[in-house]
Amino acid sequence: MLAKTQYSKSWLIFATIQNKYMVDVILGLQWGDEGKGKIVDYFAPRYDIVARFQGGPNAGHTLYVDGKKQVLHQIPSGIFHQDKVNIIGNGVVLDPVTLKRECDAVAAYGIDVKKNLFISERTNIIIPTHRALDKASEMSKGESKIGSTLKGIGPAYMDKTGRNALRVGDLLDKSFTTQYIKLRLKHQKLLDNFHFIEDISAWEEEFFEALEFLKTLNVINCEYYINDQISKGKKVLAEGAQGSMLDIDFGTFPFVTSSNTISAGVCTGLGISPKQIGEVMGVTKAYCTRVGGGPFPTELFDATGEELRRIGSEFGATTGRPRRCGWMDLVALQYTCMINGVTQIVMTKADVLDSFEELSMCTSYKVNGVETKQVPFQMAKATIEPILEQFKGWSTDTTQIKLGEDLPETMKQYIAFINEYCGVPVKHVSNGPGREQIVHI
Ligand code: GDP
Ligand code: IMO
Ligand code: MG
Repeated sequence: MLAKTQYSKSWLIFATIQNKYMVDVILGLQWGDEGKGKIVDYFAPRYDIVARFQGGPNAGHTLYVDGKKQVLHQIPSGIFHQDKVNIIGNGVVLDPVTLKRECDAVAAYGIDVKKNLFISERTNIIIPTHRALDKASEMSKGESKIGSTLKGIGPAYMDKTGRNALRVGDLLDKSFTTQYIKLRLKHQKLLDNFHFIEDISAWEEEFFEALEFLKTLNVINCEYYINDQISKGKKVLAEGAQGSMLDIDFGTFPFVTSSNTISAGVCTGLGISPKQIGEVMGVTKAYCTRVGGGPFPTELFDATGEELRRIGSEFGATTGRPRRCGWMDLVALQYTCMINGVTQIVMTKADVLDSFEELSMCTSYKVNGVETKQVPFQMAKATIEPILEQFKGWSTDTTQIKLGEDLPETMKQYIAFINEYCGVPVKHVSNGPGREQIVHI
């Protein structure tokens, strides 16, 4: 047992120095769908372990493997690299049915999930009534609904903080079924209050089938495993889901998800110390999108918004819903760089702007008539008018560019403005959905 091992003082000092900054983070700086999946897949070869630290099947991370599109919801985006360990951390909420489906899909690529995929025993399980509750809660909100993906995320995290949840490690406990029935009954009472009626017997059947599959996977004590690996010099890449503006504390509450999507979530979601975090790579699109309800100051309701959606194929990877589109919001971007401690920005979908002659970025908000460069507390209730600055477009096909120096001058100016505004450099520009379409600056 690690906890009982006696270490000499000098070894501890050595280990502390050696093990600093072994964990890098890739996370979203906007409202999700920034292209995190592609970027994690691209950087994964530099790491030994890729670990998801929060969120659940509400995530839809798209990657291209052998030119074929793959969307991952539960499994980390390092899974297509044969020799990498992928971890589903304790901060994640896990839908066993989605997981099983996804494991079957990656197995078709010769990936052995029984070797490459580890799941924390502390990971909370999404049960069928969580999904029903999500639906019931959204329906009860009417016009002010959040626009949830209806994957059971909110109710599952409520059971975590309410200390009722079932966790993956509980599966080995003889009392699992009794605990399940107890929780299901509790949920049924809530569903009755909502006057919500839906036959979930088919969901339950596939859920129990998926649990049997889950039992065959590697369930680990993530905090000991990951710290042990770090002490052996292994490098970890933590993969965020959703985006910082959907963070439960710092996002556009109540139009947010139910977890801490920001870098602080890496520590609580994997069991590692903040001292181990090195680079925080923040992913942002060159413009902005949002799917679901809630404030979006730079949203475009005109033909330009339509163009962004069409060229960027802006339709949700999880629900297929059209994404709302708008200009880059630097007020929000500077805020999310600040709360995450972003050390470098990855700007994706730059190619989507290739044909636009004029571009805009929001440099301040007028909140209830008063100009500010800060994200207000009541973003959902305030009237926010974006103050936009105009930029010349590059009007060039950038999709084949491989070197930073070859990027168009006007794109360099656009990037320089972001660097200056956020105080963080844009280090990588993604210029297409393909695995190799990325330019380093
Ligand atoms: P995630 O949730 O952050 O992983 O992002 P999604 O997968 O939900 O959405 C990003 C979409 O943009 C996917 O369809 C990607 O294939 C696509 N994508 C990622 N990077 C680029 C890029 O640089 N250019 C273009 N045109 N598409 C990209
Ligand atoms: P990835 O990881 C974009 C949005 C939903 C809704 C709100 C709450 O692919 O970036 P939830 O299902 O959590 O109850 O939904 O958050 N949302 C996302 N939007 N990308 C995501 O994930 C999202 N996950 C949740 O649309 O507005
Ligand atoms: Mg997505």
